[in-house]
Amino acid sequence: MKDILSLIDWSNEMVLELIKHSSAIKKNPENYSDVLHNKTLLMIFEKPSLRTRVSFEVGIIQLGGYAVVMETRDTPFREKESISDTAKASSRYCDIIMARLYKQEDIEELAENATIPVINGLTDTFHPCQILSDLFTIQEKKKKLKGLKLSFIGDGNNNITHDLLLGCSAVGIDISVGCPKESVPQKWIVDIAVEKAKKNISNVEISNDAKKAAANADIVYADTWMSYHVPKSEKEARIKLFQPYQVNEELMSLAKKDAIFMNCLPAMRGYEQTAEVIDGKQSIVFDQAENRLHVQKAIMLKLLNKI
Ligand code: CP
Ligand code: NVA
Repeated sequence: MKDILSLIDWSNEMVLELIKHSSAIKKNPENYSDVLHNKTLLMIFEKPSLRTRVSFEVGIIQLGGYAVVMETRDTPFREKESISDTAKASSRYCDIIMARLYKQEDIEELAENATIPVINGLTDTFHPCQILSDLFTIQEKKKKLKGLKLSFIGDGNNNITHDLLLGCSAVGIDISVGCPKESVPQKWIVDIAVEKAKKNISNVEISNDAKKAAANADIVYADTWMSYHVPKSEKEARIKLFQPYQVNEELMSLAKKDAIFMNCLPAMRGYEQTAEVIDGKQSIVFDQAENRLHVQKAIMLKLLNKI
């Protein structure tokens, strides 16, 4: 594998292997402190970030390497230089690239033209590193993956929803998405997830019924209604659209008693979930955020053939 651009091609075995390495890295980080000695990670950002940026930067430093951060507005990227030239030139300086761009086509073009591994740090369509890390977190909390039910409530046509569909179906987690009909996951991605789920004898369900989606869930997952790429002018209309899909205590009570609540963050209290839910006992959002660090390390080590 040269790049990680989505979870389309990820199988059960690949996910479990990455989880195994992430767990070893988390347990004994000192064993990995020099594995990427003098390696350089280039991080390209078209959108804001806290977790992805900090976990990758701290991650490469703790592995013995360095990070260079490039905000595209400070560079010729796209305006004065093609994505392919950026990829070719950067490949001469660095060992690995992580990019957070708007369009999936753009990260694919970057990866096709780079001679070094490229990691998708979120596009409008996919967020694979987040979901790999989330599967690790679920395994830690529930001690298994296969046979669980994950309920995603909110924006269906969303990077997190898309890679959750692909990631859950790869490992045999039943996924039930409850979203408005105006914002369903993209059909071609659902079709791939359904095929994967068949192999793993699990279910993929998309409905407009938040209660049905949440029923008997082991994991309830919410994400912002205002993703980075959504124009601010749409805020009012989207609050109206998604309000029936807010994760509140009533909705959580439909899930299993020991269900956990996840949100990839950043989160807005009073919108995609109430403060009671995200700050409540079932919420594991900061353990979830912490695991980004351990899994980013495993991802970089894997792509640089060190594990
Ligand atoms: N979850 C996540 O990717 O967060 P950031 O946008 O802060 O990187
Ligand atoms: N769907 C969100 C995820 C943030 C990590 C967004 O794209 O902003």
